[in-house]
Amino acid sequence: MIRQLVGASLLLNLCLSAQAQNPQRFKLGEQELQHEVQFSQSISKQLAGSLKQRLMNAVKSGGLAGGIEQCKIAAPEISQYLEEKYSSKLISAGRTSLKIRNPQNLPDTWQKTQLQIFDQEQNKGLQPSYRYRVIQQEGRPVLEYISPIPTQGLCLNCHGEVLNMEVTETLRDLYPEDQARGYKAGDIRGAFIIRSWLDKSTTGMKK
Ligand code: HEC
Repeated sequence: MIRQLVGASLLLNLCLSAQAQNPQRFKLGEQELQHEVQFSQSISKQLAGSLKQRLMNAVKSGGLAGGIEQCKIAAPEISQYLEEKYSSKLISAGRTSLKIRNPQNLPDTWQKTQLQIFDQEQNKGLQPSYRYRVIQQEGRPVLEYISPIPTQGLCLNCHGEVLNMEVTETLRDLYPEDQARGYKAGDIRGAFIIRSWLDKSTTGMKK
């Protein structure tokens, strides 16, 4: 529903920087907006793929404890790699959750609401899907995209209800305030958050 509302409001000739001294007017059609959403989707897919690969390699060579240490290094590295690779368009690519392991992944109010909606949908047997909103950053329009991350079997080793001793100890050392456990397969573990500039489009968006 939010998706439709955002789409409809963008079809209007929105004044996206009403408070700026020189307000700029943007016109973004539904099709162009879908291109923007697809960009975010492709970034979240790349983030998911790289994270999983790094995680699996790390567990293979260093066991679960080594996997935790590698996750700590890999997560920010992969985000930074993508942010640099798509620097003209991408602002940030990261993750969040209602129960976080890394305190830096704390959700804001909007993200928290979307995560709660994902959980509600999941509990009703529906399949939660991505959502988005348009916000302002530095007086410029930004697309913020959020997509649910389901818990798979592999994840339970470090986010499940029962953790082995080695994992428990490594987590206690590296993440003393860890909340990211107690999950079951199929639960929504968290979400990818992708922010990108809407006025830096490759899809024909005009000022
Ligand atoms: C080897 C242990 C390990 C495994 C297996 C693992 N994770 Fe994690 N996970 C971590 C660590 C460590 C962090 C914190 C990374 C950081 O510091 O940014 C984390 C963070 C996260 C976050 C970011 C939100 C937060 O809590 O800070 C999400 C989302 C997440 N993991 C999902 C998954 C999913 C989905 C899987 C399965 C595909 C998975 N993890 C498997 C160790 C693991």
